[in-house]
Amino acid sequence: MMIKIARIDGDGIGKEVTEAGVAVLESIDLNFDFIEAEAGRECFEKNGTTIPEETIKIAKNAKATLFGAITSTPGQKSPIITLRQELDTYANLRPIKSFKGINCLFDDLDFLIVRENTEGLYSGNESIEEIKSEDNSIIDKKAIAHRVITKKASERISKLAFEEAIKLNKESVTCAHKANVLKKTDGVFKESFYKVAKDYPNIKTNDYYVDATAMYLLTKPQEFDVIVTSNLFGDILSDASAGLVGGLGLAPSGNIGDEHGIFEPVHGSAPDIAGNNISNPIAMLLSVSMMLEYLNEDYWADKVRTACENVLEKGKVKTPDLGGNDKTMDVANEVIKEIKNLC
Ligand code: NAI
Ligand code: MG
Repeated sequence: MMIKIARIDGDGIGKEVTEAGVAVLESIDLNFDFIEAEAGRECFEKNGTTIPEETIKIAKNAKATLFGAITSTPGQKSPIITLRQELDTYANLRPIKSFKGINCLFDDLDFLIVRENTEGLYSGNESIEEIKSEDNSIIDKKAIAHRVITKKASERISKLAFEEAIKLNKESVTCAHKANVLKKTDGVFKESFYKVAKDYPNIKTNDYYVDATAMYLLTKPQEFDVIVTSNLFGDILSDASAGLVGGLGLAPSGNIGDEHGIFEPVHGSAPDIAGNNISNPIAMLLSVSMMLEYLNEDYWADKVRTACENVLEKGKVKTPDLGGNDKTMDVANEVIKEIKNLC
């Protein structure tokens, strides 16, 4: 049976790491039909839009979407945000895990950040007003960001966080918010969290303000099992957490909804290194593993993840961000070899 995958490379290192991801998928004993679709800066220069309707259609018709990374286009909404909203992938799952063989701040971390993906400040719901004086000259500019938090979205993201905790055999779920200042919006978020928590009496719960969470991530990150938070906070906390365990080159993510899944590394298009084929593909390959799990191909998900872990632990082939001299596809080919060893 052919598994239809929407393949959106994007631009910058998005192209390099997607090539690596596709090479790994093509090496395993499953049949994929990759449908290529455009998005990002280059797409905007060519088509006048950062995400054509056709791309959204292809993603909606696929079993899952593999997304590389894009470069932002000034004045345009981010195409990945559009895609997440169009496909209603309301949860962004960002696992944070220490790897053997990686020189990082903490070598014993294993937690999951569950980020609400459809609303909050990150949805880019903004407007701008010019304030004029009596003679009609502009005396000020007022920019407004609308932070919409609904009970429905907060409850469904909390429920998913608890379900993930059960699946991963985790003891606790922590809600990160700022309800002392954002009393209304994060009031709803926190209240929804504790309402859903009642359905999961066997899972411990607590909540921290997001600023304190940031500090605890540095001082006692081992305490965390699952963190559930709103869109922008999740974006920030997950990049910071990636820094605890070896950087963006190792951080995967999955955007999950009831009907669709989009899998992408946490990192962006890295213009500082793009074009040299030295980007680390591991974040993408771990995202590929998450995609395989989503497709109920647990056997292969495990093989891809274990192969990545083994290649990191052996440390023979690695890209410059990890102190090596190898190229993106060298690492991908090493992972492919390791998958064959494991089978
Ligand atoms: P970035 O994630 O692209 O890069 C941050 C730093 O990490 C850079 O020094 C980069 O070289 C390094 N890095 C990232 N991924 C790496 C990898 N796989 N291997 C080795 N080193 C890696 O973030 P930045 O520089 O803030 O943004 C660059 C562009 O990407 C911007 O236009 C931004 O808007 C966009 N972006 C896109 C995202 C997406 O497509 N989902 C997510 C984040 C940013
Ligand atoms: Mg980010």
